[in-house]
Amino acid sequence: MIKACIFDLDGVIVDTAKYHFIAWRQLANKLGFDFTKEYNEKLKGISRMDSLNLILSWGDVQKSDEEKVALATEKNEVYRSYILQMDKSEILPGVLPFLNDLRAQGIKMAIGSASKNAPTIIQQLDLAEYFPVIIDGSKVERSKPDPEVFLKAAAELQVQPSESIVFEDAEAGIEAAIAGGFYPVGVGDPSVLDQASVVIDGFVGLELEGLSARLLAATK
Ligand code: BG6
Ligand code: MG
Repeated sequence: MIKACIFDLDGVIVDTAKYHFIAWRQLANKLGFDFTKEYNEKLKGISRMDSLNLILSWGDVQKSDEEKVALATEKNEVYRSYILQMDKSEILPGVLPFLNDLRAQGIKMAIGSASKNAPTIIQQLDLAEYFPVIIDGSKVERSKPDPEVFLKAAAELQVQPSESIVFEDAEAGIEAAIAGGFYPVGVGDPSVLDQASVVIDGFVGLELEGLSARLLAATK
């Protein structure tokens, strides 16, 4: 019996990867190198500092810890200038009807995201009323694939992981959901999210009843 749904934010509720890409690329270009969209894929679900370290390694650039903090802050300012212009038109197709359906059924909902900007984005998208619990990158010590972010969300919602679905677009997030004992639903490419019990290509037409049945069948 499913009592809660916990959603990753970036790539599940909204496509912010394009803004992360613009901001990181601008920083890389300033440091004298470039990287492609394919490389940007590797940054999905990865924390801000881990992303910076990866990008610097691609450009073969060394920086001190102090310089890294300044670079990450600079990138975040550019990123925030984009997300502060977002509105609910950027919510991915089918998400809102699905959330309304969950709410009507009394299913509890939370956000479990690596992003420290998650509360701002939820506000911009006008979704705060759906998510009384937002566990973001500033509330956890360990990043995905550690299950901490989802376990904290479940604890705040007062549900067990075994009663909860986690929706994730990143491999590290699916691993975190499995490690925490949640039902993992991948959102996106089945070849990347092959550890998920069920993979959906999006939320259009999705119904909890059918999804629960698929999850039960897949985990028997
Ligand atoms: C994740 C994104 O949700 O949040 C990553 O998929 C991002 O790409 C991470 O690096 C941290 O985001 P922020 O907003 O704290 O820099
Ligand atoms: Mg994501």
